[in-house]
Amino acid sequence: MRIALKITLALTLWTVGVLVVMSERELEHEFAIIDGDLSEAVVLMGRALQPFVEDAWARGGEQQVLAALDAAYERERTVNLRWLGPTVLARGLDSPELTTAARRTAQSSQEQVLRWPDDEDPVAIYAYLPVRLADGQEGVLELRRSLEVRRELQRRSREQLWLTILVIGACAAGLAVGIGWLLVGQRVGRLVALARAVGRGETATRLPATTNDELGELTSALNHMVQNLEDTRARGTRAAAERERLTHELRHADRLATIGTLMARLAHELGTPLNVISARTKLIAREQVSGAAVIDNARIAAEQTDRITAIIRSFLDFARDARDPVRRFEAGAIVEHTSGLLDGAAADRRVELVVGNQAPGRYVRGDLLLLQQAVTNLVVNAIDVAPPETRVTVDVLESECTPPEGRGRGRGRYICVTIGDRGPGIDAELLPQLFAPFFTTKPRGAGTGLGLSIASGIALEHDGWIDVVSDHRNGTQFVLHIPVDADP
Ligand SMILES: Nc1ncnc2c1ncn2[C@@H]1O[C@H](COP(=O)(O)OP(=O)(O)O)[C@@H](O)[C@H]1O
Ligand SMILES: [Mg+2]
Repeated sequence: MRIALKITLALTLWTVGVLVVMSERELEHEFAIIDGDLSEAVVLMGRALQPFVEDAWARGGEQQVLAALDAAYERERTVNLRWLGPTVLARGLDSPELTTAARRTAQSSQEQVLRWPDDEDPVAIYAYLPVRLADGQEGVLELRRSLEVRRELQRRSREQLWLTILVIGACAAGLAVGIGWLLVGQRVGRLVALARAVGRGETATRLPATTNDELGELTSALNHMVQNLEDTRARGTRAAAERERLTHELRHADRLATIGTLMARLAHELGTPLNVISARTKLIAREQVSGAAVIDNARIAAEQTDRITAIIRSFLDFARDARDPVRRFEAGAIVEHTSGLLDGAAADRRVELVVGNQAPGRYVRGDLLLLQQAVTNLVVNAIDVAPPETRVTVDVLESECTPPEGRGRGRGRYICVTIGDRGPGIDAELLPQLFAPFFTTKPRGAGTGLGLSIASGIALEHDGWIDVVSDHRNGTQFVLHIPVDADP
């Protein structure tokens, strides 16, 4: 039950209880006064009758007394009169208490008044008055006043009282519930609604704190709390946006740095096709070839132009400052650029870059440029350590995997981009810090230590992870895992 209702009901019950007790006491007090008045009236009537009874006895004995009492009763019918002569007294009355009272009156000549059968719930008032008889004997005059009417009155008064209390109680309860609802229930209801809205993340609402009481204070405190929450959230959103901007800039800077290191080799890389184009076009221009040979030379020049275009496109694509939307694409696209971008660097170190399996028909979802960047960083590292005349292999495969704790989307199908080299391997004690930002074993100026950290950040963002298997004899294998996107 609601607190406001509980308090109101408790108050109402308490008030009704107090009213009942007080009214009962008042009623009893009033009826005690009425009883007193009635007793006094009966006694006064008896005293008034005393001389007449004595006189009647003197005149004609018991017969005369009974006649006188009959006559008196005829005049005043509310009080029953009875003559208790010595014989009746000796025989006893209808109840022992009455007998005792009557005999005591006869013996002590003193009036006796009693309520019968008991004081708590009397049916009648009995008064016994002594009558001195002429012959020296004692008689007693019994006056009996029935309390039936008074009992009826008491019953009705009590009924009336209960009815009044009931009506007052009901009205008071109704009024208290209404006022309680207005002052407490309704306002607490609004506070609860506000707290629930905040719980759902809606922080736009405020409640007017109109009153100066505890609920007003609570409302102000809650408004204050909601405002703080909104400020904190706004700060959090700004911080998250700032973090995202910095991450984006850092990744772009990392791509530019990679392009920078590859650039020196680019001129060299473009030299060969340019020489071929130059030589072939000169042959045509100087008319040193004719017929089908002209077409052949023109075709070779065009092929070399396409090759140059592809290489430059790989570089430009990789260097762009883009925020691509997340989309679905074939897994092979992740290594599509690798040759164009890194063949030159590999050739420079007399290493063969072999892009093998590309998992055709398998799809992933994400940011293609970022995934290409992650793979590029791993391939650049592999080329850096690969001994001359060895191969660096890049393969895209699909397999059922269980991700490490806290990574991936649980056991399932993953695309594994595997980069293998025949380099010196990685010391086991270096493995725990391998992906930490700025960790590098390269000489000053040769490495930033950001390649692996950025690659693992990108993997994490795609619900994936990177594994390393390395030993000093067989070289190193980095595997980038990303969930397969089965939805069409
Ligand atoms: N294929 C690999 N073989 C051996 N060591 C590697 C390989 N890839 C990365 N490492 C080690 O990890 C370190 C961190 O790499 P990375 O984060 O790319 O930074 P950087 O290449 O600038 O040093 C490297 O300095 C190197 O010691
Ligand atoms: Mg690196």
